[in-house]
Amino acid sequence: LIMSQDELKKTAAYKAVEFVESGMVIGLGTGSTAKHAVDRIGDLIQQGVLTNIVGIPTSIKTYEHALNVNITLSDLETHPVVDLAIDGADEVDPDLNLVKGRGGALLREKMIEFASKKFVVIVDESKLVDYIGASGLAFPVEVVPFCWKFTAHRLELLFEEADCVAKIRTSVETGEVFVTDNGNYTIDLYFKKSIGDLKVASDAILRLPGVVEHGLFVNMATTVIVAGEDGVTVKNK
Ligand code: A5P
Repeated sequence: LIMSQDELKKTAAYKAVEFVESGMVIGLGTGSTAKHAVDRIGDLIQQGVLTNIVGIPTSIKTYEHALNVNITLSDLETHPVVDLAIDGADEVDPDLNLVKGRGGALLREKMIEFASKKFVVIVDESKLVDYIGASGLAFPVEVVPFCWKFTAHRLELLFEEADCVAKIRTSVETGEVFVTDNGNYTIDLYFKKSIGDLKVASDAILRLPGVVEHGLFVNMATTVIVAGEDGVTVKNK
């Protein structure tokens, strides 16, 4: 019996929602995996199993979806303490560090997940990597539009030793530059070699003027739920 990747995502999401209790403030993630968690929370509210849930959406897309499934929504200004956030990831390393943001929502995700007492990450096993950057896929950095080519070049110079190439993200549908929920652009970095110490890399990116935030989530996940062909694994920090 082979499960599709989407069934694995759903399995991880449903497992995470087992941690949700009535009365909690819940950070609602963005992406195809987190969407299953939002649906499940909506179902359990509908059934009366969960009551007094407040959702804090991590993107406009999730805001709209959560509204559709009748989850009461708020924001970090009204609810500065989040009990539990549930979100997907693009890469998870053995120490539970993450790359996020291929879906374009990394800034709000990081703000809300940083404010959460617990941050549960839900992935199918394809997201597990030996080290950050190993997938060869994009490592996203959100930048202000002003002179973004300059910032992109500075990012390449910063990671010269990792043979970094920086590309502006465009929308697949329109081919236009992709604009985030915050009115910013996304520079996707591609590395041929390891970027070394993650905390050092994280701090160096954030020190560049023009950078708003990046998709490396160092030491933020408290739990990672991995769904694979052989079942579900719960890894705790
Ligand atoms: C959104 O910006 C991302 O951080 C997503 O959480 C990440 O891309 C995972 O998405 P999927 O669950 O669709 O793979």
